[in-house]
Amino acid sequence: MGHGIAQVAAQSGYEVLLVDVVPAALERGRASIGKGYERLVSKGKLSAEDRDAALGRLKTQGSLDALSAADLVVEAVVERLEVKQSVLSDLDRICPPPAILASNTSSISITKLARATQRPAQVIGMHFMNPVPVMQLIEVIRGLATSQETYDAVEAASRRMGKTPVEVHDAPGFVSNRVLMPMINEAIFCLSEGVGKPEAIDEVMKLGMNHPMGPLALADLIGLDVCLDILKVLHDGFGDPKYRPCPLLVKMVDAGFIGRKSGRGFYEYGG
Ligand code: CAA
Repeated sequence: MGHGIAQVAAQSGYEVLLVDVVPAALERGRASIGKGYERLVSKGKLSAEDRDAALGRLKTQGSLDALSAADLVVEAVVERLEVKQSVLSDLDRICPPPAILASNTSSISITKLARATQRPAQVIGMHFMNPVPVMQLIEVIRGLATSQETYDAVEAASRRMGKTPVEVHDAPGFVSNRVLMPMINEAIFCLSEGVGKPEAIDEVMKLGMNHPMGPLALADLIGLDVCLDILKVLHDGFGDPKYRPCPLLVKMVDAGFIGRKSGRGFYEYGG
């Protein structure tokens, strides 16, 4: 999601620094952003001049230290509390005091993440949806200590990126994944119990409920590892067995079949 966020931010006129500790990930990110802009140029939605200007505003770096002049940082690292806390704690040390530290977490408590920093008033959730360049929503999550100033700044930044911010409060999975993940999990239960084949389950939700894609195809797009991490946050956070991850989902993740990014999930993806 990081490269999608960087793509949209650079296109909106922001100077963007995309940071990843893995050089190959940075290269992949840059290539995807280039492709994303090409797609828009070929459709006449972006001029070649604006594409070049956006690419000119985008730099990549292998170390968080490069973020020392940032006004707004959006972290999009793996969906694990300890990893996110460690990155936020580093950012807190590196970034100037007025900088806002936003998390693209899909489910983890913003209040907990904020505790890893000395600036909880400037920590907020900025939850983009996949694919970032296409989806309209940013779920903006207030932690317990998030200030109104921080909220207003992030709301304005979201609008400048052409997105629609929707305010929610801190709770496991927020609104988006508290509603979405039980549906995906239930679809996986249907599959594991033999109620329907993947195509049938997805077709029911597409044709019957007008969803743009079925829940299993969507899980492949999101990443089955991410779905499992989010379900664990819901299960632990509410202590309610209704959020128990389907054993088939656990097995798929154990096997490394985590969706589009691995070439195989509930469907296979050539290339
Ligand atoms: N990057 C950029 N643009 C993309 C894209 C991508 N990865 N994928 C599709 N598009 C663009 C296409 O170019 C096309 O643009 P135009 O309308 O300008 O021609 C448009 O999106 C529609 O694409 P397609 O015609 O190829 O295919 P589609 O109509 O089936 O749409 C889709 C694809 C947008 C992904 C659609 O199926 C969809 O909306 N799916 C649901 C996605 C969704 O629910 N996302 C939220 C997941 S939850 C999440 O992200 C949060 C979390 O915490 C887990």
